[in-house]
Amino acid sequence: MLANRVQSLTPSLTLGISTKAKQMKQAGIEVINLSIGEPDFFTPQAVKTAGIAAINDNYTKYDAAAGNIELRTAICQKLKRENDLDYSTEQIVVSSGAKYSLTNTLLTITNPGDEVIIPVPYWLSYPEMVKLTGGVPRFVESDFANNFKMTAEQLKAAINDKTKAVIINNPSNPTGAVYSKAELLALAEVCLAHDIFIIADEIYERICYLDSFTSVAQLSTAIKEKTIVVNGMSKSLSMTGWRLGYTASTPQIAKAMGAIQGHLVSHPCTIAQHAAIAGLDSCADDIAAMKKVYRKRRDAAIDIIKQIEGLSIVQPDGAFYIFVNIGHYRSKVDEQSLSLKVCDDMLEKHQVALVPGIAFGNDDFIRLSYAAKLEDISEGLMRLKDYLAQC
Ligand SMILES: Cc1ncc(COP(=O)(O)O)c(C=O)c1O
Repeated sequence: MLANRVQSLTPSLTLGISTKAKQMKQAGIEVINLSIGEPDFFTPQAVKTAGIAAINDNYTKYDAAAGNIELRTAICQKLKRENDLDYSTEQIVVSSGAKYSLTNTLLTITNPGDEVIIPVPYWLSYPEMVKLTGGVPRFVESDFANNFKMTAEQLKAAINDKTKAVIINNPSNPTGAVYSKAELLALAEVCLAHDIFIIADEIYERICYLDSFTSVAQLSTAIKEKTIVVNGMSKSLSMTGWRLGYTASTPQIAKAMGAIQGHLVSHPCTIAQHAAIAGLDSCADDIAAMKKVYRKRRDAAIDIIKQIEGLSIVQPDGAFYIFVNIGHYRSKVDEQSLSLKVCDDMLEKHQVALVPGIAFGNDDFIRLSYAAKLEDISEGLMRLKDYLAQC
């Protein structure tokens, strides 16, 4: 008999779909993959060159548990330069992907039975991470009319004696919505009043199409003290496979996180860490170029979606996803899960991979990723239009 924590684990639906799409491709079936949560660009050349140099220079041994000191220095400089945030190197912990940064954060701040507030729709790993680290996910429904951004009132209503933290994902996966400074301030004030931690997952922060992005930690010193900023290289630098994420928090939290990480995984790959220094120091142009392409694709996708009867979307101001409301078709599709049925049919009958909203806690939606070629996005959406017209 395996451990209890495994019994309640839900396998990742997004990974499941991309595996199925890959298997179809291997079997010779052309699949348009609009389900992917990773950039379709290569890692910038400067990062690759630095990675190769790191191997040749023999940076292949153990390093500090909290991460390489030069990389942590580069992260501090990035946070100052781009977010006007002052952190010292002992407040930074570099981990194997933002996924482990989040897990390590939860291990550091939650006790068994503590509740962690997760706004719905949510990135599908949050509930599993909370459960695996002994906590209890507490879901908060938000409104489509407010682009699924949780309000201070909704947050307040979910807080009780057991509440330890709230996860705020900004820009959001799966919706692409971005919280304004005023919205963040209202949420953060509730957190301060109730002494709960803010886990600010800002991994898509550099893929934001608004004039400016506000990190919740920027709002005040008191808010920064209660916030664990989670960020990483995967999305903005197209470094998904290099596995690098980081947190910025108080020295006390960071010290504990470093100690946990030291025992569980030692530290992330030394070579990848050396490569990432180049990513933070000299890839601003690569990031800007990728963002420009994403924006073009986003605008094109929105134009097509607008022409499809019955569909509406959450305003996508960041990341590379569009959360499409298919609720109009619920009465026409005779299945328990609308989003699963639509995504199954689209993959199996029309060779287009999309992610069912049920994976993110809302069955009236599907998630489209525009980390794909423009032609594929257009063709995929045309097939969706034809499919829905026959429902
Ligand atoms: C919202 C969000 N947070 C964190 C992650 C994890 O990123 P990483 O690949 O760095 O572990 C992802 C990846 O899909 C994500 O979408």
